[in-house]
Amino acid sequence: MTLAGKSVVVTGAATGIGRGIAECLLSSDANVTVVGRREEPLRELADEHGDAVAVVAQDICSPGAAERIIATATDRFGGLDAVVNNAGLARFGGLDAIDPAEFDAMFAVNVRAPADLIRCALPWLRAGRGSVVNVSSVGGVLSMPGRAFYGATKAALNSLTRSLARELAPEVRVNAILPGPVDTPMWAGTGLDDAGIQQLRVDLTSSTPMGRFGEDAELGRWVCLLIDPEVSGWITGALIPVDGGRTA
Ligand SMILES: NC(=O)c1ccc[n+]([C@@H]2O[C@H](COP(=O)([O-])OP(=O)(O)OC[C@H]3O[C@@H](n4cnc5c(N)ncnc54)[C@H](OP(=O)(O)O)[C@@H]3O)[C@@H](O)[C@H]2O)c1
Repeated sequence: MTLAGKSVVVTGAATGIGRGIAECLLSSDANVTVVGRREEPLRELADEHGDAVAVVAQDICSPGAAERIIATATDRFGGLDAVVNNAGLARFGGLDAIDPAEFDAMFAVNVRAPADLIRCALPWLRAGRGSVVNVSSVGGVLSMPGRAFYGATKAALNSLTRSLARELAPEVRVNAILPGPVDTPMWAGTGLDDAGIQQLRVDLTSSTPMGRFGEDAELGRWVCLLIDPEVSGWITGALIPVDGGRTA
C-alpha cells in the first residue's frame, strides 16, 4: 500500500476496530492522530510506535473537539490526507425500552461528530485530494428489531457518506465500510445483560454465512485500501460490507 508518510486521523483508535485500523496504517508507515476519551490506551499506541502517533484525548462531541483534533494532526504532521470516523456508540433496546436521551447520544457520536470532523478537515483534504472513511455498520442497511435506533444512526451515516461523496467530488473521496459482528469492547456497553449478549452472539453467528465474527485487522485492512489512492482513487460514495456475508 502507498500510505507511507500520509497523515490520517482515526477516532476511537484505542480499542476494537479502530485499533485494527491504526495498526494497519502504522504498519504501512503512515502518521496517525489517534482520538478517544481515555488517554491511557492511546498513550500505549504512542509508546509502541513513537513519533508516528499523535494523541488527542477528547470526547468527539465536546464543543471545539473537531477543531482541536484537526489542528493537532496538521501541526504535528504538516497536513492531513484522510479522516477515519470510527468512534461509535451502540445502545440496544426496543422502541419502548430505549431512553430518548440514548438516541440523542448515539446520533451525536455516530452522525453529528463525524460530520463536524469532515467539515473541519475539508480545507486540508481538498488541498491534498484526500479522503474520508466512515465506519458504519450492516445495521444501517438491515432491519434491526430491538436495535432500531442504533441502525437508524448508521443509516444516517450511510446517507451522509453518499451525499458528501457527490458534494465533495472530485477533490475529496468519501466512503464507508459496513462491518458485520466483530468481537470488541462495544458489546459490553450496549445495555444488554449477559444472557442477551450471548443470545445475540449466537443469532449473529448463525446468520453470518462465514460462520464467525470478524477480526479488527480484517476491517483495518479495508479502511487502509479505501484511503490508498493507488487502489481506490476511483472509488467514492461506496458502502462496502465487510461482514462475512451477513448482508448477502
Ligand atoms: N463491534 C461490532 O460488532 C461492530 C459492528 C458494526 C459496526 N461497528 C462500529 O465500529 C466502530 C468501532 O466500534 P468497536 O466495535 O471497535 O467498539 P469499541 O472497541 O468500543 O470502540 C469504540 C471506540 O470509540 C471511542 N469512543 C466512543 N465514544 C467516543 C467519544 N464520544 N469521543 C471519542 N471517542 C469515543 C472509545 O474510546 P473511549 O471510550 O476511550 O472514548 C473506543 O475506543 C463503531 O462505529 C461501531 O458502531 C462495530
